[in-house]
Amino acid sequence: MQSTKTEVTQFAKDVKTGLGKVPKSVPSKYFYDEEGDRIFQQIMEMPEYYLTRCEFEILEKQTKNILEAADTFQEPFNLVEFGAGDGFKTKLLLNYLVENNADFTYHPVDISASILQELKKDLDESIPSLKVDMLNMDYFAALHAMKNLNERRTVILFLGSNIGNFHYHEAADFLRKLANESKEGDMLLLGIDLKKDQKVIVDAYNDPQGITAAFNLNLLTRMNRELGADFRIEDFSHYTFYEKETGEVLSFLKSLKEQKVSVSSIDREFQFGKDEMIHTEISKKYSLKELETIAEQQDFEVINHFLDSKQYFTDTLWRIKK
Ligand code: TRP
Repeated sequence: MQSTKTEVTQFAKDVKTGLGKVPKSVPSKYFYDEEGDRIFQQIMEMPEYYLTRCEFEILEKQTKNILEAADTFQEPFNLVEFGAGDGFKTKLLLNYLVENNADFTYHPVDISASILQELKKDLDESIPSLKVDMLNMDYFAALHAMKNLNERRTVILFLGSNIGNFHYHEAADFLRKLANESKEGDMLLLGIDLKKDQKVIVDAYNDPQGITAAFNLNLLTRMNRELGADFRIEDFSHYTFYEKETGEVLSFLKSLKEQKVSVSSIDREFQFGKDEMIHTEISKKYSLKELETIAEQQDFEVINHFLDSKQYFTDTLWRIKK
């Protein structure tokens, strides 16, 4: 799907700001154009990218425990999912809920309209009795939309360690806003990648086949196509490292030489030094202790941490305290 005009304008603005700063950066939400969605699917299938499989194992083996702990079989509720993606993991929960006659509407939230449309089509076929109401907007807009849905209790899914794409203070802010927009009894099931052996983490973000590199570099191709930029893809490379203390994997696009790049839609030229970086993503890993601290600080009560057999990943269930 082509981006709409307003998306391009916002993209142009964000690129103008991001490349104008020192150090340079581009927001990671722009990874997910049609090609980005496709490459991300490949990332999730790579042997090195353990995150998706670990979370799948948790949701598959502990479905009943998770859903019962989230009180989903008592009264009607809204199931809101941030960053729904392809619904591959969520279907484990959706199927169980439908089979056990839970009364709910599923509200997937995603900034990618193409992903939402595919998801809807797929769900209409695979779980025809499921009620789906899509929210094509970013997380913050969805937080507001959520409040005005109805009087029902809301269970929020934020899976895939997407919250790891925020710095700690941004995650804390996001959780605070979420708590503010929520009602008493609302719950949050948060998928989070845990701190672990460095090598395991580093390999997940730097595979030998270069799929992750292609994903990161696609951002330049997108700027060329949508903003009339003239990035020479071969003059940039994917660069990443893991900071053990903060638990952050930081991803960058590195300029391999001194060069100028022009972006015609914003009428700007940007100078790159050799080895200068554009920061593109943060993927933060947490310890269970850190999760408990952040939950406590933002007024959530931790109900349970559900972990996979390797203890690489957790889906942690929290209740909003009001
Ligand atoms: N945001 C996802 C993550 O942090 C996607 C991702 C995987 C990613 N590998 C990447 C983003 C490499 C940028 C660069 O796990």
